[in-house]
Amino acid sequence: MEEALNPTELRELAAEILSENDREGRYTIPTKGLYPFQWNWDSCLTALGWTYLDEDRAWREIETLFEHQWSDGMVPHIVFHEPDDGYFPGPEVWSTGRSVPTSGITQPPVAGFVLRRLYQRCADPEEIEERIEDLVDAVDRWHAWFFENRDPQREGLVSIIHPWEAGRDNSIDWDEAFERVPTEGITDYVRRDTEHANPAHRPTKAQYDRYLWLVEHFCSFGWDNSKLHDASPFRVVDPGFNAILIRSCFDLAALAEELEMDDVAQRNYAWARRGLEALENLWSDPHRQYLCQDRTTGQLIESTSIGGLLAVFAPIRLTRAQAIAHRIEQISEECRFSIPSHDPADSRFDAKRYWRGPVWLIINYMINDGLEAADLEESSTKIVDDSLELISSSGFAEYYDPKTGEACGGGRFTWTAAMVLEFLQDQ
Ligand code: GLC
Repeated sequence: MEEALNPTELRELAAEILSENDREGRYTIPTKGLYPFQWNWDSCLTALGWTYLDEDRAWREIETLFEHQWSDGMVPHIVFHEPDDGYFPGPEVWSTGRSVPTSGITQPPVAGFVLRRLYQRCADPEEIEERIEDLVDAVDRWHAWFFENRDPQREGLVSIIHPWEAGRDNSIDWDEAFERVPTEGITDYVRRDTEHANPAHRPTKAQYDRYLWLVEHFCSFGWDNSKLHDASPFRVVDPGFNAILIRSCFDLAALAEELEMDDVAQRNYAWARRGLEALENLWSDPHRQYLCQDRTTGQLIESTSIGGLLAVFAPIRLTRAQAIAHRIEQISEECRFSIPSHDPADSRFDAKRYWRGPVWLIINYMINDGLEAADLEESSTKIVDDSLELISSSGFAEYYDPKTGEACGGGRFTWTAAMVLEFLQDQ
């Protein structure tokens, strides 16, 4: 292992990674080779990092993403700004028919949270008022799209209809519901991800077949979002995803209030409060955490993943936040570095395989934020310390083995660098 880096060196390295992954001053790719386009929640979280280097650039990152919002309000998970055949599935597979191609599914809506934070940090709020108002309207339309299209029965929480939407692509949470997705008839394909990263750290071929079946299935509906929820054999209500949406609704509402955009504020407070109430249905007393719910069967899914702990990013009641802090302590006892993306006591835990065990800094960041807001400082400090230790010993990787700290997946990773800048702000 290399010698540990000090905070100044870490900041410099993080800034270097953001700059080298910057494209035309408009958007930041997650990493060269593996992910050569703009990803939705990567960009939003990366904007937080840009605030330390160039405030205008931070706003630009989000504006570029929202330039590609669909007319129905959806914000796609990938914007294919430039052709690049190093990534699969590319624009020809998605076939969404847009002038600048995009994918046809979405990702965790963290933009509302990020906007408020950017606004709180900005040097001259008046100067950017118009800019921010446009973004507030756009995020509001995205939130409305979620409740309209992904909660057709008005239950208060939204479903994901593809594992990629959760941003936790191969989580153990999806295994059971994924069994319902067929693989017959999919077009032959060649994966590109395994050329850039160790195949043992990536999703399996069986999972990829199902990812693609869903894409082709949705494509056959002309990407009509009013039909896709009910047409999907995969519909899961993820507490982590919903916590991000609820938090973003609250933050967007608070920001809209400051800007005297009263309709937006009221709508978003209402969605947030209803969501928070409905989230309680995902709490599991025996597991002492939230669980995913399979919306096709109505059953909770027996899988103790980080998704259920990420619920603390929303302002859940204190007793729940305390229980989550306790769970994190418990599962971290079995790992050198917190927080593993899956419970190590589960036989399905896999320390190096993507979202089935490894530590991800963006998740550590959001959980830390929620614990701090609940005044659970003791638990949150360890998360920040572990995160910085991982970076200084193993570099700016996509994710890390929680037992050994080994760097996994892609290297020189943008949102990892952005999170380091965030963690270092108080140091
Ligand atoms: C992977 C991750 C997803 C992320 C993307 C780009 O697909 O699972 O969360 O947005 O890579 O970094």
